Amino acid sequence: MGSIMRGRRLLVPLLVQACLLAAPCWGEKPCPRSCRCDGKIVYCESNAFRDVPKNLSGGCQGLSLRYNSLAGLRAGQFVGLNQLIWLYLDHNYISVVDAQAFRGIRRLKELILSSNKITQLHNTTFHPVPNLRNLDLSYNKLQALQPGQFQGLRKLLSLHIRSNSLKTVPVRLFQDCRNLEFLDLGYNRLRSITRNAFQGLLRLTELHLEHNQFSKINFSHFPRLLNLRALYLQWNRIRSMSQGLTWTWTSLQKLDLSGNDLQVVDATVYQSLPNLQTLNLDSNKLSNVSQEAVSAWISLTTISLAGNVWDCGSSICPLVAWLRNFRGNKETTMICAAPKEAQGEKVTDAVETSGVCRATPAPSVATAAATPAARPGPGHSPAPTSSREFEHVSFHKIIAGSVALFLSVAMILLVIYVSWKRYPSSMRQLQEGSAARTRTRRKKARETERPLSSPLQEYYVDYKPTNSETMDMLVNGTGPCTYTISGSRECEV
Ligand SMILES: *[C@@H]1O[C@H](CO)[C@@H](O)[C@H](O)[C@H]1NC(C)=O
Ligand SMILES: *[C@@H]1O[C@H](CO)[C@@H](O)[C@H](O)[C@H]1NC(C)=O
Ligand SMILES: *[C@@H]1O[C@H](CO)[C@@H](O)[C@H](O)[C@H]1NC(C)=O
Ligand SMILES: *[C@@H]1O[C@H](CO)[C@@H](O)[C@H](O)[C@H]1NC(C)=O
Repeated sequence: MGSIMRGRRLLVPLLVQACLLAAPCWGEKPCPRSCRCDGKIVYCESNAFRDVPKNLSGGCQGLSLRYNSLAGLRAGQFVGLNQLIWLYLDHNYISVVDAQAFRGIRRLKELILSSNKITQLHNTTFHPVPNLRNLDLSYNKLQALQPGQFQGLRKLLSLHIRSNSLKTVPVRLFQDCRNLEFLDLGYNRLRSITRNAFQGLLRLTELHLEHNQFSKINFSHFPRLLNLRALYLQWNRIRSMSQGLTWTWTSLQKLDLSGNDLQVVDATVYQSLPNLQTLNLDSNKLSNVSQEAVSAWISLTTISLAGNVWDCGSSICPLVAWLRNFRGNKETTMICAAPKEAQGEKVTDAVETSGVCRATPAPSVATAAATPAARPGPGHSPAPTSSREFEHVSFHKIIAGSVALFLSVAMILLVIYVSWKRYPSSMRQLQEGSAARTRTRRKKARETERPLSSPLQEYYVDYKPTNSETMDMLVNGTGPCTYTISGSRECEV
């Protein structure tokens, strides 16, 4: 059974090969020496060819000369190969390309010239190949592109010019590339986007500008790239992003700004990108994100914020609150760079410890402490604006509040103990009374002044909580309990 199946599977490719062999493209001429011919495709790869081999048949549809030693392309080099659909010339040493090099191969759809040593191209080089769908000029030494370089390439879908030495992009360079969907200008030396440089790219969906030298990005310099979904700007030197758009860029879904020098997240930029889903802000110099900015992140599903210099003071609160409610993917290794005591800590841990983003308003700290049951749990999201007020609550007030709490608890317990010892029958009454302990606290304190004095001294001696523990206790209600006497029962709840 199995062998029959395998046999059938083998049969199809064999038949295909047989058909191709029946009408080989080197029918009139033999396959060039040191090449491999397969149907209408000729492979002359990795063979130290210094020139395009002779005797190529006019019927060839694909020619690969990858990994050879071609040093230049002469005028009319491929004349006669008028059926050629793809031509791979990558990984050679081509430095000079004649303006007429591609004459006679009008049907060409794919031209790969990457990984050569091309320093410049004549402005008419691609005029003979107007049917190109894919053009790859990556990994060369191009220092400039001529105005009109891509003139007439109306069918081009993808253009790769990654890793050259381009400093500028001429005005209206891509004017004719109305079908271009993918453009890679990454790893060049571009410093600024010329106005109208990207004009005409109505179908562009992906634009790579990463690893260049941009220091400012002004969205108004991008023309209406109404179909652009992904914009890659990582590893430039971008200090400021601004937007002078008079329209809303609804198509943009992905923006990579990692590895730049951004200190500020400009809310207006994100207000103009209502459908942004993926945002990468890794490795910048951000210390905070404003409430306006996080409020503009309405469609995000993925965010990365690692490698910044987060200030874990109250200015981090809008971001922390936003992240708490964020259900998408997030990079969680955000580290505090300030204040000093939080340096190196995870932002979430530091904020939790310091309580800097909690909603509890300053004046209610004491009363909130006195009625633990009424305190809001940690699940209640804080209003970020009140965090600044909270910062002003000095620690001695908090400690005073906590001391008051334990003082009253100690008193009540002592009152209960003493009453029970002396008048066991009145226990029930006292229990009722303890429910309203805050109201009657002072009275009872007066009643039990003398017997309390010694245990209270003990209390002050033994109770030495750190500030942060006190904070946790007061605000969270779930903090660690380090108390050695009375009171301890209360925090076990
Ligand atoms: C080209 O073809 C001719 C005969 O058609 C042959 O003599 C010659 O050796 C071939 N050259 C190469 C490089 O294959
Ligand atoms: C190409 O460049 C030459 C000068 O090098 C110029 O005269 C010509 O007009 C240019 N052609 C196009 C189509 O830009
Ligand atoms: C952005 O460009 C527009 C139009 O050129 C200009 O009006 C605006 O001032 C620029 N914004 C910044 C911050 O440079
Ligand atoms: C946020 O960071 C920027 C840049 O470091 C700074 O100028 C600004 O004062 C910070 N905002 C707050 C509220 O601390």
